[in-house]
Amino acid sequence: MIKIKNIGIITSGGDSPGMNAAIKSIVNYSNINNINCLGFKNGYNGLINGDIIKLSNNNVNNIIGLGGTILGSGRSEEFKNKIGRKKAYNNIINNNLDGLIIIGGDGSFTGSIIFNEEYNFPIIGIPGTIDNDIYGTDLTIGYDTALNTIIYAVEKIQDTANSNNRIFIIEVMGKNLGFLALNSGIAIGSLDIIINKEKNNKYNIKRIINLLKKGEKNSNIIIVAENKNIGYAAKKIYNQIKEKIDKYEIRYSILGHIQRGGSPTCLDRILAIRLGLESIKQLINFKKNIVIGIKNNKITYIPFNKSIQKYNKKFDDNIKQIYKDMYLKEI
Ligand code: F6P
Repeated sequence: MIKIKNIGIITSGGDSPGMNAAIKSIVNYSNINNINCLGFKNGYNGLINGDIIKLSNNNVNNIIGLGGTILGSGRSEEFKNKIGRKKAYNNIINNNLDGLIIIGGDGSFTGSIIFNEEYNFPIIGIPGTIDNDIYGTDLTIGYDTALNTIIYAVEKIQDTANSNNRIFIIEVMGKNLGFLALNSGIAIGSLDIIINKEKNNKYNIKRIINLLKKGEKNSNIIIVAENKNIGYAAKKIYNQIKEKIDKYEIRYSILGHIQRGGSPTCLDRILAIRLGLESIKQLINFKKNIVIGIKNNKITYIPFNKSIQKYNKKFDDNIKQIYKDMYLKEI
């Protein structure tokens, strides 16, 4: 029976806590099955430039709790053009690779789709992004850790907000899809949560002003999902309400890249290990062009082209109901 012998691993796009746990599980399982693992550094750029580390059990000892990715990550401009992808393919051939595992988000998977149309090479994707914006999976690696980081950071801001009688508009990451904003906002009991999926933003501003005018607390937090660019959404809302409220001082805060760092939570570690193990098992079984996800706590296989349909990904019905009950509006 033919067996796979060499595989490559890449972490790509925005890093996320738990990527290292996924790498470790892939390397450990490969080792048991006599498969060599090559790690390509800094996302697709490592594949293009042949920037490689041989991964053995020794390399991945004690990395399970490390934030970031030991392989480095990045968004490769060169991989967007044919010449870059050709160089990447040459390195795949030169290193006798039988398959590739990409841990990343929608940008990375879009790259895999194009690469596959040209070279039809076995690739398995693992969703690694704090944004949770991969279609077909309930969770992505790093999302839970980012939510906990947001709670931790916002509660520190809450202390100073309370002491100074202030309203804080806090912008969180997650692109404009709002998974981080919605869940963290509910979990900290924010006065309001603004995500861009809500159609009538003007209504929101009016509503926030009304809520603040009749607010009984001496401070409050409003969570806002980032828009296309970091820093834009919080500032916009701040400018829209600052003149209209005299009861409180208003400040805004952009949590930024703190949300991407830190040691992964238990949930993210276990998720990363499960997805990592399944990815290598799939390559061993000659499967290709799928992203490994999790649905109702069961492993699921998502075709690459479906996984990137992030605008079709819906909020969980239970969370929607909480939002409706607590915030008296629908998402
Ligand atoms: O995709 C993850 C993410 O952290 C988004 O939430 C955010 O919009 C973006 O990456 C930031 O990217 P960069 O680190 O390139 O500024």
